[in-house]
Amino acid sequence: MIRVAGGERLQGEVQISGAKNAALPAIIATLLTSEPVILHNVPHLADVDTALELIRALGKEVFWHGDALEIRGGEELRWEAPGELVQKMRASFLALGPLLARAKKARVPLPGGCALGPRPVDFHLYGLAKLGATIDFADGAVLARAGGLRGAQVYLDFPSVGATEQLLLAGALAEGETVVVNPAREPEVADLAALLCRMGAEVRWDTDRVTIRGQRALGGAEHTLIPDRIEAGTYLLAGAITRGKVRAKGVAPRHLASLLDRLALTGCEMEVGEDWVEVLGPSRPKPVDFRTWPYPGFPTDLQPPMVALLTLAEGRSTVTETVYAARFGHVEPLLQMGAKIQVSGSVQVVEGVERLRPATVEATDIRAGAALVLAALAAEGISQIRGEHHLRRGYENMPSKLQNLGARIWEEEG
Ligand code: EPZ
Repeated sequence: MIRVAGGERLQGEVQISGAKNAALPAIIATLLTSEPVILHNVPHLADVDTALELIRALGKEVFWHGDALEIRGGEELRWEAPGELVQKMRASFLALGPLLARAKKARVPLPGGCALGPRPVDFHLYGLAKLGATIDFADGAVLARAGGLRGAQVYLDFPSVGATEQLLLAGALAEGETVVVNPAREPEVADLAALLCRMGAEVRWDTDRVTIRGQRALGGAEHTLIPDRIEAGTYLLAGAITRGKVRAKGVAPRHLASLLDRLALTGCEMEVGEDWVEVLGPSRPKPVDFRTWPYPGFPTDLQPPMVALLTLAEGRSTVTETVYAARFGHVEPLLQMGAKIQVSGSVQVVEGVERLRPATVEATDIRAGAALVLAALAAEGISQIRGEHHLRRGYENMPSKLQNLGARIWEEEG
């Protein structure tokens, strides 16, 4: 459990870690070769540990060197992904493409839904079938076989991050070119493509599509992961909600354009450097309307923490979630802390209040948990947040990073 004594203004600098959502596909991409791949700037997160457990179970050898990872081996890959790992972390489903490409068959359990609503993988399966895979289902798992994947053109009904990554991974060893029309353009997807190029694949981005030319085999590579824009945004919002002054260092400011635009509308003052962003929170934020949208739109992963800030605004904010069917796990606990939020369909109407009150609340997913930490930092008094294992999945050393900014926050058993 996390305990917070709220009411402190956060001040200072926070070093941002490598991106979780770049690390996970990069780790799984190492299944595409048996040569050594070195990844730098890898965050120490529970989800990273799960991804490493998965590739070890499939035959890879993993060595940590500080925050660099060396992954090699797996001449012969096992082709069955352990069920409990896929249930624990949806990104494990990305192993399907690489296993098909290298082992010619794969058994990967279907990822469960989660706090964000149903999370199907139909785009993944549609795309792999177009590359020549035969897909069956048994006991809640996908059984897939492919004599040899052949490049094809795949149109995505929605620019799905996972489906785009799945097709880049499979296409890297497919014969000929794979074209994904309407691909996801998140920086983490571009980072995966950059790694695949270092491993020998050829990737070309156009305005409406990404093309990957498959190779007969991929080699080893060395790659530094991009910084985590969601972690950075979370700490900037922590500075804003506590009326503090926080500088996030080691970031790519361009990845935060949508957040910085909306933060300016709340009255935050910002300074942007080469690889840092500093936010000075207003005494009271102004209300702001926004909608989440695929990159470069406002990231859905920052919707809950941004809503936490807006619960204290001097007026009404309207927030529309367009990426997930049900990303509202933060609403109920925020109501317990005195927020005024009404949800109708995909819209949250947030009536700002003067102050939040401390409470004992439960986190239901990584980003809802982040929203509750921010609310607790702003609420005078002692709050307790259960379910902090969600936070450890997505935020490296969050309590100590916040303590270094002056927060009174502790991790406790129970
Ligand atoms: C990635 O999930 C991220 N996870 C998520 O971050 C992030 O919220 C999401 O992209 C959107 O940016 C990782 O990168 C590991 P999607 P992913 O496929 O790939 C629907 C976090 O907190 N969909 O773009 O699963 C889906 O249901 C996590 O770090 C289908 O319908 O996202 C959702 O409504 C949470 N069919 C929408 O598309 C499919 O086959 C976006 O999903 C695939 C997706």
